[in-house]
Order: sequence, then structure tokens, then C-alpha cells
Amino acid sequence: MNTSYSSSLANKPLTHLNLLEMKQRGEKITCLTAYDASFSALIDETGIEVILVGDSLGMVVQGHATTLPVTLDDIIYHTRCVMRSCQRALVIADLPFMTYSTPELAAQSAAQLIQLGGAQLVKFEGARIDIVAFLVKQGIAVCGHLGLLPQFIHQIGGYKVQGKACDSADKLINDALALQKAGVSLLILECVPAELARKISEQLHIPVIGIGAGADCDGQVLVVYDMLGISTGKRPSFSKNFLSETNSIEGAFKIYYNAVKQGDFPTSAHSF
Ligand code: KIV
Repeated sequence: MNTSYSSSLANKPLTHLNLLEMKQRGEKITCLTAYDASFSALIDETGIEVILVGDSLGMVVQGHATTLPVTLDDIIYHTRCVMRSCQRALVIADLPFMTYSTPELAAQSAAQLIQLGGAQLVKFEGARIDIVAFLVKQGIAVCGHLGLLPQFIHQIGGYKVQGKACDSADKLINDALALQKAGVSLLILECVPAELARKISEQLHIPVIGIGAGADCDGQVLVVYDMLGISTGKRPSFSKNFLSETNSIEGAFKIYYNAVKQGDFPTSAHSF
């Protein structure tokens, strides 16, 4: 079965409610990061439902060793670039390190991503229930991010799988439920065991998008440079070079889209 994007769906902008409906009918959600207008257009034309302007741009675009140097202005600039050529995909923008240390600062930063960047949702790392509640009260749609939190890299001490021990797995489940209760519309789970991600996806009614979190999440996200094999660093083991199977970037996006829709990606080789 070829699940290629149907042109009948073209140009109708998606909202998080469409993603909720996809979860309810068991259709996998596809997401890639993008940082510029050209990639955004190609991803959007493929039918991929969500574009994330991630602070991963600090590593794959700017060449830093971590995401920590990324500024709010960087994300605003790249979100504007992405928005100029995106017709249909839902666009999420990351709140960078230290731009959401208090609920008030988070609201000011999120307002800039929405008003100046054009983002529909903002994402931040960690179980900051106070921040979610405050943002949601202002009418801001929020995406949570649990599991491996790259902005906490110096505390974690390395890019490691999270939630392997029983107590940390229980904490992740409780944090996910608390974020949902506080009002997040979506949750990204990064680098957690596939079995734990399956449990969290089943327990939450909101969509859960995984990266290195196994096949049973409601959707998948990858960093676009990793899945094209053009990142300067080592490709993470949970990612896959989709460009090696075709001779065009559009082709790689289509293969990724179909593989996620059909449950062919990720395999156990890309999971923990
Ligand atoms: O910044 C980013 O690209 C992300 C993804 C890895 C989920 O947060």
C-alpha cells in the first residue's frame, strides 16, 4: 500500500485537533525538523503533518556541540523562514535554554515565537507544570518534551537513554500524565525504552511523538539533517539515512513518510 499524501488534503492548515483525530483513528503522525524555507516547502509538500523548528539547529546548522547557545532570536528567525513556505503542516517552535525559567518569562518568550515567528505551538523541555498551566491560561498551545532533555545535558552527563530504571520510568509516566492534565496538546518523548513509550502513549489521550522511543508512539520525529545523512556529527543510532535509498531529498521525505505511516520505521534496530 502506498500511503503517499493525497492532493485532496492540500493546503488545509492542520491544527493540534487534527493530530488528536489521527491518534483516535490510529493513523501515525509524521514530523521532521526544519530550519529554512526550502526544506519546509519540501516537507510540507510531502504531506508530513508537523514541522518542528527545534533548537537542534544549534548543533546541525550552527555547528555548536550542544543546543545551549541557541537564542530566542535564532528560533524566531528560523521559524519565520519555515513559515514563509509552509501551507499545511503544523509548526512547533522550541523555547531555547533559559528562555522559560519562570512562567512569566516563558509567556514573554512564547509570545515572541508566536507573534514574530508565526509558530502555532511552542515546545519546552521538562515537567514544568507551572509553566504549562500559565501558558495555557494565556491561550498558548504547548508541546511537552520528556525523556532525554538536551538542554539538561550538563546535568545528565551525556546523551543517554532515559527511564531504564523502574523509578525513573514511573517518574516519566507521572510527569507525562501531569503535563497532559496541565494542558499540553502534544508530547515529544526522546530516547526512552520502546516499552515505556508504548505505555505512555496508551495512557495519554493526547498524541505522543517519539524520537528514539520505539514504534508504538502515535507519531515519529527526526532531525532532518540526520535522516538525510548530512549532519556533521555521528548519526544517532535511532535515526536512519533515508537519502541512501533514493536519489533526491523529496524521495527521502516520501520514503520516511510512508515508512512511518505503515509502521516500518522505527524498527527494533532504531529503538531501545
Ligand atoms: O530540537 C529538536 O530538534 C528536538 C527534537 C530532537 C525532538 O527537540
